[in-house]
Amino acid sequence: MRLFQKKLPQSAQHTLGKHTLGLTAAGMTGIICPVMKTPVTVTVTGAAGNISYSLLFRIAAGEMLGADQPVILKLLEITPCLEKLQGVVMELEDCAFPLVKEIVATDDPAVAFKDADWCMLVGSVPRKAGMERKDLLSINGKVFVGQGKAIAENAAPGCRVFVVGNPCNTNCLIALHNATGMPKENFFAMTMLDEYRAKAQLAAKAGVAVSDVTNMTIWGNHSATQYPDFTNAKICGKPATDMIADEEWLKGEFIKTVQQRGAAIIKARGLSSAASAANAALMTVKNLTTPTPEGDWYSVCTFTDGTKYGLPAGIICSQPTRTNADGTYSIVEGLPIDAFSREKIDASCQELLEERAEVLG
Ligand code: NAD
Ligand code: LMR
Repeated sequence: MRLFQKKLPQSAQHTLGKHTLGLTAAGMTGIICPVMKTPVTVTVTGAAGNISYSLLFRIAAGEMLGADQPVILKLLEITPCLEKLQGVVMELEDCAFPLVKEIVATDDPAVAFKDADWCMLVGSVPRKAGMERKDLLSINGKVFVGQGKAIAENAAPGCRVFVVGNPCNTNCLIALHNATGMPKENFFAMTMLDEYRAKAQLAAKAGVAVSDVTNMTIWGNHSATQYPDFTNAKICGKPATDMIADEEWLKGEFIKTVQQRGAAIIKARGLSSAASAANAALMTVKNLTTPTPEGDWYSVCTFTDGTKYGLPAGIICSQPTRTNADGTYSIVEGLPIDAFSREKIDASCQELLEERAEVLG
């Protein structure tokens, strides 16, 4: 195991207070100093990879947890990539981010997940052209067995686990099953990128700004069966179906474009999406830690209890979600599901059940 660790000098660390907001007077000097919050420990796996190369610098800049939130970064890589990771650490240092209090880089999961508040599980092999994401299950699935165990044994109480590595829904389920004792509701997988892709497509078709598209749900699996639900989406506060009269496009090209966007990017770049994936990962954590604006929701994959929208119990499924004022999250209930949507949602859930059978068997 190799480990390199960069800490602030003790004198600087001593300035940290606990859970304190605002400014305070520094002793007798009359100087006004900011009193900083307790650092949050963020572990990122696959830290020398493409997504992490976009993600880490934005976390360090405060874009994920807030401009006043110090962070400790714990970076996990496989041993052959530690030298590359050291280069990333050097670049992080060279940014002199004021919020970064410590950087730990290691190939030991027990060290990487020690006291983690957020585990961003990015590290895993991306697919190549011609593959489906679920073809990665036999390669990547086993990574999440060991990492699930290491998180349960080492992370901070209340740690939240967010899976990006594909196939992210079922990898997340594997981590959850191996993280004995951890609450199931603390496990998440990413469909925010699909949500943004869907919003971008609807905005372009309607000729509006992307920020005018709200209430966009991705249902099901982060795969080619996912269902971007245009029936409940809104454009400028009105039903998307009122603003886009072309039903054939909505039911056909729109859905297919979103479902196949990852593959289209791989075909064009020769590499899977990275900056947009990092952006979506960052925004998912931001959404999960910030109260959701009234009337809206976002998409994230969470553990199903079998009581909502006819989704089978015990899968990690994308659903419309809101973050409450107390920091908990809730599934948005009562959305109408028409026959077209029902068929699409069921198909994606069926795929998740098949993936579950493959790994849990
Ligand atoms: P990449 O190959 O550039 O980087 C992956 C990194 O993970 C590599 O540096 C590798 O050494 C490391 N790694 C592999 N196994 C590891 C392990 N056991 N522990 C720690 N690190 C490990 O790939 P990338 O482009 O960064 O993509 C990473 C994953 O994210 C892929 O599986 C990709 O398909 C997935 N992805 C998901 C979404 C989504 O929307 N959910 C979007 C884009 C990419
Ligand atoms: C994406 O949606 O861009 C990622 O899941 C990468 C992929 O394999 O498509």
